[in-house]
Amino acid sequence: MFQGKTVVVTGAASGIGAATAALLAERGADVIAVDLNRPQREFGRFLRADLSDPASIDTLAAALPAGVHGLANIAGLPPTRPAEQVLKVNLVGLKYLTTRLVPKLADGASIVNLASLAGLGWTEPEAKPAIDDSEHLDFDDVAGFCARHRIEGARSYFFSKEALIVWTLRNRWTWRERGIRMNAVSPGPVDTPILKDFIETLGARAEEDMRTMDRPGRPGDIAPVVAFLLSDESAWIRGTNVPVDGGMYSNVLCQMHGF
Ligand code: NAI
Repeated sequence: MFQGKTVVVTGAASGIGAATAALLAERGADVIAVDLNRPQREFGRFLRADLSDPASIDTLAAALPAGVHGLANIAGLPPTRPAEQVLKVNLVGLKYLTTRLVPKLADGASIVNLASLAGLGWTEPEAKPAIDDSEHLDFDDVAGFCARHRIEGARSYFFSKEALIVWTLRNRWTWRERGIRMNAVSPGPVDTPILKDFIETLGARAEEDMRTMDRPGRPGDIAPVVAFLLSDESAWIRGTNVPVDGGMYSNVLCQMHGF
């Protein structure tokens, strides 16, 4: 399915990114793994980069070949990490890498952003001012932005995913004339090294959420969905957010709307 295609996967050293890189390699892709840490399994080429640092992203973008067919933006930090760092990796760095890479993407390429069920609050009117203000947020202004919008602690994670979903929706047609499309995937809780961070952050609410589920997700539940969105089979899926969460989002919607 991916023979002759080059796909860049960020966050490829662990969890969902590692599972996605492995699956794409198995399906014939030429995988370029990007992470702070070297993946334990070799999937193809590895390029070390710090996605919280614009200079490191510039070096990465220069090192990547032209004609890339897919970009899976999976690297991310959990809500237990410092707010500014979370915003830099999960949102500002992700957008910076993507926009730097677009000129090097092949026509018809697909971009997939790992958002989260934690980003479902993007539809709330209170979320809009900060999301709008983040549209052109750059690295130097992250501290000021967090102060302006009182984004501290775990809120940084929720905000980063809300803004990422909106950015994905807003850019539904930005690169349409080149056939380049972008979508998001929003998992519920997935059993990776950062699951404990979510449980720590959400406390009783996480335990309640887990009770409504038959089981937590596994990286192998998410990777095939990312692969589908990267493939030509999903060519007409554009600018959308796909929940992959064992039914949790539907559960929230039904409760919210009284069904
Ligand atoms: P993980 O911690 O297993 O993997 C994240 C990877 O990102 C690691 O390999 C890490 O080294 C890399 N990374 C972190 N900061 C980086 C930086 N500055 N530069 C380059 N690489 C960096 O986490 P997991 O669970 O696989 O998460 C992947 C994505 O899925 C994240 O964006 C996360 O927010 C999202 N997600 C995870 C859920 C979960 O329950 N595990 C639920 C919903 C979304």
